[in-house]
Amino acid sequence: MFKGFSHAVIERNLLLLGVLTLITVSIGGLAQIVPLFTVETTIERVQGIRPYTPLELMGRDIYVREGCYVCHSQMVRPFRDEHERYGHYSLAAESMYDRPFQWGSKRTGPDLARVGGRYSDEWHAQHLRDPRSLVPESIMPPYAFLDRPLDTSRIVSAMRTLRALGVPYTDEMIANALADARAQANPEADGSGLAQRYPRARQGNFDGNPRVLTEMDALIAYLQMLGTLVDFRDVTPEQLRQQ
Ligand code: HEC
Repeated sequence: MFKGFSHAVIERNLLLLGVLTLITVSIGGLAQIVPLFTVETTIERVQGIRPYTPLELMGRDIYVREGCYVCHSQMVRPFRDEHERYGHYSLAAESMYDRPFQWGSKRTGPDLARVGGRYSDEWHAQHLRDPRSLVPESIMPPYAFLDRPLDTSRIVSAMRTLRALGVPYTDEMIANALADARAQANPEADGSGLAQRYPRARQGNFDGNPRVLTEMDALIAYLQMLGTLVDFRDVTPEQLRQQ
């Protein structure tokens, strides 16, 4: 009886049909939109996450430009086999300053979310120049052309853009961007400012040539910090459950 009544009434009354349709669609819309207002709460509060150093940021841009993501993901999933191969599963906090993020599900090569510190700088330089000289069966293309000088003119505008999107780069960080990039790629340089602005930033002679700041320097600086910011001995299960 109810069925017959409601349909007859609703379908013959344009206004009622319109209002009820609106209510139904709104519920669906709210279910999609409301959770976005609290999206910050899905990011765990863990120690150690900081924005990329200027050199790492340029390296990240080269990573994206060269399409490394076509073969490499940067997301360790919470499964036992991944845990044993790559380490702790990725946290949302670890990619909170990534625009665009590099999660992905296409793995022609291994996941790189925790590759930082796994190999030496020399290994990375050699591997990027000629992957098959280290891993004979590798199908990764060679990137020897990255030994060319890094175009540093983009650093400041890249940092400003990210700041507009919410990455906490300070005026001081932007003012020192070029100096910090040079200091990071030269172990002899005074790195105290760099270390104070970007905790755990590592100085290195990434491509083996300290005289020229190259794209190779930037890319290796980036690869070497991936997954190294959070010290998982400090992370408690409660922090992860916060979400
Ligand atoms: C055509 C697919 C492909 C592309 C594109 C590619 N790689 Fe790879 N990469 C691989 C494969 C396959 C391996 C595993 C064999 C090896 O170590 O060379 C690998 C291995 C690696 C490793 C070693 C990872 C480990 O844990 O042993 C690093 C680091 C790496 N790639 C970085 C990069 C970077 C940076 C780029 C972009 C400049 C890139 N790759 C582009 C396929 C690719």
